[in-house]
Amino acid sequence: MWDYTPTVKEHFLNPRNVGDIPDADAVGEVGSLACGDALKLYLKLDDNKDKIVDAKFQTFGCASAIASSSALTEMVKGKTLDEALAISNQDIAEFLGGLPEEKMHCSVMGQEALEVAIAKYRGHEVAPHDHDHDHGPAYPDQEGTIVCKCFGITDVFLKKVIETNKLTTAEQVTHFTKAGGGCGGCIPRIKELIAEVMGKQESGEPRKRPEKLSNLKKMQMIQEVLERDIRPLLWADGGDLELIDIDGPKVQVAFRKACAGCASSGYTSRVVEQKLRDLVAEDIVVEEVAA
Ligand code: FES
Repeated sequence: MWDYTPTVKEHFLNPRNVGDIPDADAVGEVGSLACGDALKLYLKLDDNKDKIVDAKFQTFGCASAIASSSALTEMVKGKTLDEALAISNQDIAEFLGGLPEEKMHCSVMGQEALEVAIAKYRGHEVAPHDHDHDHGPAYPDQEGTIVCKCFGITDVFLKKVIETNKLTTAEQVTHFTKAGGGCGGCIPRIKELIAEVMGKQESGEPRKRPEKLSNLKKMQMIQEVLERDIRPLLWADGGDLELIDIDGPKVQVAFRKACAGCASSGYTSRVVEQKLRDLVAEDIVVEEVAA
């Protein structure tokens, strides 16, 4: 049984905005019934065609697919199309208080449906959706070469998810996209893509601690390092961390999910502290709190 948060359970049991919008301005359809998860997202815009005033969904999938779709429809209402496009799959997971890593593909599916809907509304070329995709792309706005034939996932899509979520193992890629979770024949190529994407990032200038920082910049950098360098590592082990407060050099964090109450949390705090000292400021002290 998956360890779902109360918010995931609540959105699964009482999903918001289920159904269709017959006169929708934008419709995005992703996934495939043949592969177990599919989502159709409907968006209605205001008279100025500026803001999203209504959103509904139809999905075929597990509890987290329903909860992610429900969350997404709530998140986009009242937003402009550009604001909606800024929603990442991690934002959807965060709205739900987190998703098990094995279920992160549900948040990815939601974000992709949104991109497809908006791309089509804006007249961008999007490959027709094939319900049983028969090895056609599961995410029709993503060009490229199919890497995973079992789930119709392209290299362009995989690179985007690897980069956005800082994925470092083929297993993580399977959890976020399903690619590699069937016959496994694509796993060597997935590993190559991880090396390509993450290697490229590593090959840039090594990140260095800045000489001087304003308080505001320091706080921003602490948040960035936690999001980019720390949380993805914790997710890989089913854990998570929340930034509670920053007070001068003191950074208070609370460990979540598998990290909460873990015997190694003291060690993890020191790892977090060292990373922040290396990349932000050398006087940082990380404190674990129970909030
Ligand atoms: S080709 Fe990717 S799992 Fe089969």
